[in-house]
Amino acid sequence: MTPREDALREATRLSEQLHRHAHLYYVLDAPELPDAEYDKLFRRLQALEAEYPDLRTPDSPTQRVGGQPLDGFAKVRHKVPMLSIRTETDITPAGASAFDARVRKELGLAEDGPQVTYVCELKFDGLALNLRYEQGVLVQAATRGDGEIGEEVTQNIRTVQQIPLRLHGEASAIPPVVEVRGEVYMRRDDFDALNARQREKIAAGQKNEKVFVNPRNAAAGAVRQLDPAIAAQRPLSFFAYGLGEVTPPAEGGPDHATQFDWLQQFAAWGFPVAQQTARARGAIELIAFHETIGRQRDGLPYDIDGVVYKVDSVEEQRRLGFVSREPRWAVAHKYPAQEQLTEVLAIEVQVGRTGKLTPVAKLAPVFVGGVTVTNATLHNEDETRRKDVRVGDTVIVRRAGDVIPEVVGVLPESAARPDAERGPVFTMPRQCPVCGSDAVREEGEVDYRCSGGLFCAAQRKEAILHFAARRALDIEGLGDKLVEQLVDADLIRTLPDLYKLGFTTLAGLDRMADKSARNIVDALEASKKTTLPRFLFGLGVRHVGESTAKELARHFGKLDAVMDASEAQLLEVEDIGPVVASSLRTFFDQPHNREVVEQLRACGVHWEEGEPAPRAAKPLSGKTFVITGTLPTLSREEAKEKLEGAGAKVAGSVSKKTDYLVAGAEAGSKLDKANALGVQVIDEAGMLGILGGAAD
Ligand code: IVH
Repeated sequence: MTPREDALREATRLSEQLHRHAHLYYVLDAPELPDAEYDKLFRRLQALEAEYPDLRTPDSPTQRVGGQPLDGFAKVRHKVPMLSIRTETDITPAGASAFDARVRKELGLAEDGPQVTYVCELKFDGLALNLRYEQGVLVQAATRGDGEIGEEVTQNIRTVQQIPLRLHGEASAIPPVVEVRGEVYMRRDDFDALNARQREKIAAGQKNEKVFVNPRNAAAGAVRQLDPAIAAQRPLSFFAYGLGEVTPPAEGGPDHATQFDWLQQFAAWGFPVAQQTARARGAIELIAFHETIGRQRDGLPYDIDGVVYKVDSVEEQRRLGFVSREPRWAVAHKYPAQEQLTEVLAIEVQVGRTGKLTPVAKLAPVFVGGVTVTNATLHNEDETRRKDVRVGDTVIVRRAGDVIPEVVGVLPESAARPDAERGPVFTMPRQCPVCGSDAVREEGEVDYRCSGGLFCAAQRKEAILHFAARRALDIEGLGDKLVEQLVDADLIRTLPDLYKLGFTTLAGLDRMADKSARNIVDALEASKKTTLPRFLFGLGVRHVGESTAKELARHFGKLDAVMDASEAQLLEVEDIGPVVASSLRTFFDQPHNREVVEQLRACGVHWEEGEPAPRAAKPLSGKTFVITGTLPTLSREEAKEKLEGAGAKVAGSVSKKTDYLVAGAEAGSKLDKANALGVQVIDEAGMLGILGGAAD
């Protein structure tokens, strides 16, 4: 044997192995080979093909990477037209009966005659493709186009791992020409990951990149991508569901009598076929399928917009025939659309129970996901700006399952209007729209929050429940339901109103027995005598938990001292870092919060105040460090321990409140940020110097 013959034999074997393992991995989701082994075989084949370029056949596993960018797509006339499919008008599960009745009538079946057998499939939300195989090798992939003429997208489709480049099975049983049809689509997780990468590119300043509005759009973009190298980076998947042209092999080729058998054939050739696919007899089983899939829909890893029923028997299909390019033997039965277009009438900001501010789009009413939607969340300021949603825009609204409706994005045509014709860019108000207190966004957080927790009407219920909790003022009997009732009846607006509730008011409430009312009055009275830590905790200042409240009380002794402490003074307290200090300061800077505190004291809420007892101030108390990069002798963890031991705070990110950045080798973005903010940068030796100096 010549060396070339040797190489050919080895390449053929490698190619077969690689095809088999790719199928196990991508289609059957049951890999048998570790990735590294697969890569080894792959590289060996690449090396052989580099040595003997004529071994590099179009169906080689190495040929999935795509070729040269194109100027445009060639037109392809489909040998067998790609039909569309009628959509059943009755969207309720009962719609299936109408289809069954029509089929029975056309087939001339008597009312008490036998049931028709159907195949039930999913209606994938992607793009239809025609895949042409000659002698078992993929030679052409084309889009549906107008059904007669589509576009040749072979280069891009080669990159789809789930599509076999060569049909599996005995060569003698593979038709000389066969066209397999199906849907190319993008899984939701692949879509999310792709968009995450796109967002990173945009953040890095790549102006030509965009975020895709939905998986269908992303899939369509990938299929029609002129540069196959880019298409290869857009993860596509495929399901087979139909047959185009087929010429029977000389002997013993497949000649299946039913759609179901053809689907099995596609699977045997190496295509993914949806596992939900099922045979059904009569309308009742069609309805059951529609209902089952309807329940599974939101949990599927990809989007579907309905199910498809097909008459199973190929012979019956032939008898039923077509009307105006739609087969009489198939119907699409859709689910309520999960995405719709509508107009943004206004953007409002809502305040949640815990003070979170959420921008909400007020929409022209639209029926989506089975209900009429007039509000959709925009999540937060960054998201709203990223999607660039403005009043007057036409947007895509999505409501899947029980999830809160959201604005997915602006319709491209609408976004392309001149800036002057669009509303202003959204900015989050810096004051709470409900109570006017400052709205603040902490570093590293995406949400703005109202800081008027004690006063804000949106946060009333939450504030009262927290104040009354066992570990706070411990007001027994004041639970969820009662707070709900009291606030809804406008009997309580702020905490001091609690202490104005009399027996008569309480006993007059629905479902309130005299004895319970008496107990609550007593519990309220008893709660007035409390402790400073309980009171501080009960105010519900963000980030101030029980232990922080205790430290504050110990350190300052008196409430007024806590309320008037500067951020620097707060930072001296054990365990209080910049975030908590700033949160406390903002809270007590809101006049309304202070008023509430005063009124509570006026109502008789009291505690024993103590003397300030700051823990022996440590040398680096109040100083904040950030550590980055690799230090020459200490691990970052060791450096952190040393600094904390000396009373310093060690934070994870650099801000203007950072005192020192300790930078080791290969310090990255934190160093840049420190330099930009003018934060002092030191090395390990500098840090040890400060620690040593502090110890003296
Ligand atoms: S069969 C003769 N089966 O829906 C019937 N189509 O308008 C031809 N589709 O363009 C189509 N899932 O993109 C069929 N299981 C399925 C399908 C399906 C999705 C799409 C396909 C086609 C459109 C029909």
